[in-house]
Amino acid sequence: MCGIVGYLGNRKAIPIIMEGLKSLEYRGYDSSGIAYFKDHKIEVIKKEGKIQNLDALLNYDEDTFMGIAHTRWATHGKANDLNAHPHTYGKITLVHNGIIENYEDLKKALFAKGKHFESETDTIVVACLLDELYEETRDMLKAISLLMQKIQGSYALAILCKDETDTLYAVRKDSPLIVGVGENETILASDIPAILGVTKNYYLLNDKEIVQVKKNKVTIYDEHLNEVLKETKTYQGDLEVSSKKGYEHFMLKEIHEEPEVLQNLLLKYTKEDKIREVFDITPYKNIEIVACGSAYHAGLIGKYYLETYANKKTTVTYASEYRYQKHFFDKENLVILISQSGETADTLAALKLAKENGIDTLSIVNVRDSSIARSSKYVFYTDAGIEVAVATTKAYFAQVIALILLALNTVEDRASYLASLRKLPSFITKYIDSFDYESYAKRLATCEHIFYLGRGIDYALAMEGSLKLKEISYIHSEAYPSGELKHGTISLIDENTGVIAVVMNEELKEKSISNIKEVLARGAKVLAITPIDEDFASSKILLTKEDAFLNPLLAIVPMQMLAYHVAKIKGCDIDKPRNLAKSVTVE
Ligand code: F6R
Repeated sequence: MCGIVGYLGNRKAIPIIMEGLKSLEYRGYDSSGIAYFKDHKIEVIKKEGKIQNLDALLNYDEDTFMGIAHTRWATHGKANDLNAHPHTYGKITLVHNGIIENYEDLKKALFAKGKHFESETDTIVVACLLDELYEETRDMLKAISLLMQKIQGSYALAILCKDETDTLYAVRKDSPLIVGVGENETILASDIPAILGVTKNYYLLNDKEIVQVKKNKVTIYDEHLNEVLKETKTYQGDLEVSSKKGYEHFMLKEIHEEPEVLQNLLLKYTKEDKIREVFDITPYKNIEIVACGSAYHAGLIGKYYLETYANKKTTVTYASEYRYQKHFFDKENLVILISQSGETADTLAALKLAKENGIDTLSIVNVRDSSIARSSKYVFYTDAGIEVAVATTKAYFAQVIALILLALNTVEDRASYLASLRKLPSFITKYIDSFDYESYAKRLATCEHIFYLGRGIDYALAMEGSLKLKEISYIHSEAYPSGELKHGTISLIDENTGVIAVVMNEELKEKSISNIKEVLARGAKVLAITPIDEDFASSKILLTKEDAFLNPLLAIVPMQMLAYHVAKIKGCDIDKPRNLAKSVTVE
C-alpha cells in the first residue's frame, strides 16, 4: 500500500528511482509520481493510473542525481493527478505512506492562517505544516522533529527542500522505510525489492527516526535530534525477486514454490521425531490468534491443530476487531499475531495493545525485521521468500505449517504426525499438475455467485478458498458452514449458483454429504474437493486419502489453483487485483 523510493548518488537518478518504484507495484496503487532537482528547481511529475502513464512523461536521461517518488493507494481524496504524490507546499516537496489522523484539525488551523490547498489529501497538510516549521526554524532537522510533535498517525515521509539541493530527508512512524547504502549512493524505499538495483545493505529505521542523506554520508537522528549509530543489515535472499522465472504470473510461480518453502520449514525445525527451535506454548493457559485476511484464515486452521493436538483453547480474532472490542486481558495467555508483510496496520496496533497490557506476544511473520516482527516479544519467521502476488499463497501455507509446528511441539508422541507432514511437499507438487483445473474453472467462470461449503476445519479451508477466488476473479463468493445453509442462505441457491464443497474431514462426512444433497436438490452444481470416492457431488477433485492429521492440508493447493484458473479465464490482472494492496499499512 503506497510505495516510496528516494535516491541520492552519483548516477542519473530517474532510471534508478523508476526501477525501484516498479518493483513496489505489487504493494497496490492507483497513481504515481516523482520529484527531482533540476537547475536548482524541484520538478514534479505525477499521473493517475499505472506507472507506465508516468513513465511516458519522463526523460530518463535527465541530469538529476537526487529525487523522490511514490505509488499512491488512495485514502483521502480520489485517485487523480492532483491527489497523486509528491505534494509541494512552499519550499517543501514530499511523498507520504500512511495516514495522518489529525489532519482535519491541522488543516483548519492552517486555513485560519490563510493557507489553502488544492489537493484533498492528508499529505498536503503535512507539506504545508513542514514548510511553516521550516520557515520558522530555517533548519530542516529541527522542522521535521517539530513536525512529529504535531502530526498523529502513521507515516513514512521522503522529503526535498528547495533550499537544500544536496540533501534528502526521510522519517518514519508505523509505516515501513529502509535506507539502502551503496557506494557513493543511497536509496530509501518502503521495501527491499526497491533497493536491490543499488545495494543489498540497508539500515532499518525505528519509529520517529530521521534520516539525513548527503552525498557519501547518511546520518540518522532520533526525534530529539541525537545522532543514532547503527549497523547495516544485509539482504540474504534471492536477487531475482522481480522475475517470474518463466511463469505467466507471480501467483503461479509462488504456488510452485510451496513444496520447497514447506520442505525448508520442516528441515529447519524438525529432525526425526524432534522439533527444534520452535517456541514453547506449553506454559500458556490459552492462545489468542490475531490477524487479517488470509493470515486470519491460517489462524483458524491453527486453532484446529492447537485445540485438537496441543489441547490449547484458542480464539481467533480479526485484528481490526481486536483493537476495539472489550478485552479481558489475562497474563497467562499468549497472543499470536500472524502477518506475511509484518506491516499490516491493524495487526501491528493489536500487537501494541496486547503488549501495553502486559501480555506475551509471538508473531508469525514472513518479512524479516518488519515492524510486527520487531515489536513482538518472540518471532517465528516463516521464511517463505518475498511474495509478490497480492493474493497470498506460499506465505499463507507457511503460516499454517508454523502453527502446526507450534502445536506439535507440545505433543510427545508426534512421530507419526511428523511423518505425515513430511509427505506434504510431494503431494503439493503432484496436485499442482494432477487435475484439469482449467476445465473446472471454465464452468465456474460463468457463475455470478459461488459458495464454498465446509464443516469444522473444512469451513476454515473454505473461507480461504473463497477469499482467493473472489479477490482475483471478482466473482462474488462466500464461504458457509454447511450446517448453516438451511438457516437462510439456501434461499440464494439455484441452478446458476456455483458451489464448491470441501469435504476433507471424514468424521463429519455424513453430515457434510447430506448438506450437499440439499444443495443439489435445489439445482446447483456442486464441485467437491475431497478424498472420499463416493457419488455425492456433480463433479470432484479427488485427492488421496491420508490420515486425519494430513488430510485438511491437501485441499489448499487445489483451491489456490482453481482460483488462479478462474481469474485467468476471466482475463483478470491476477497479480495485482483492483483496489487491493499487498501491504495494508493503514487502518
Ligand atoms: C489475501 C491476502 C490478504 C492478507 C491480509 C493480511 O490473499 O493476501 O488477505 O492475508 O491483508 O496481510 P499480512 O499477512 O501481510 O498481515
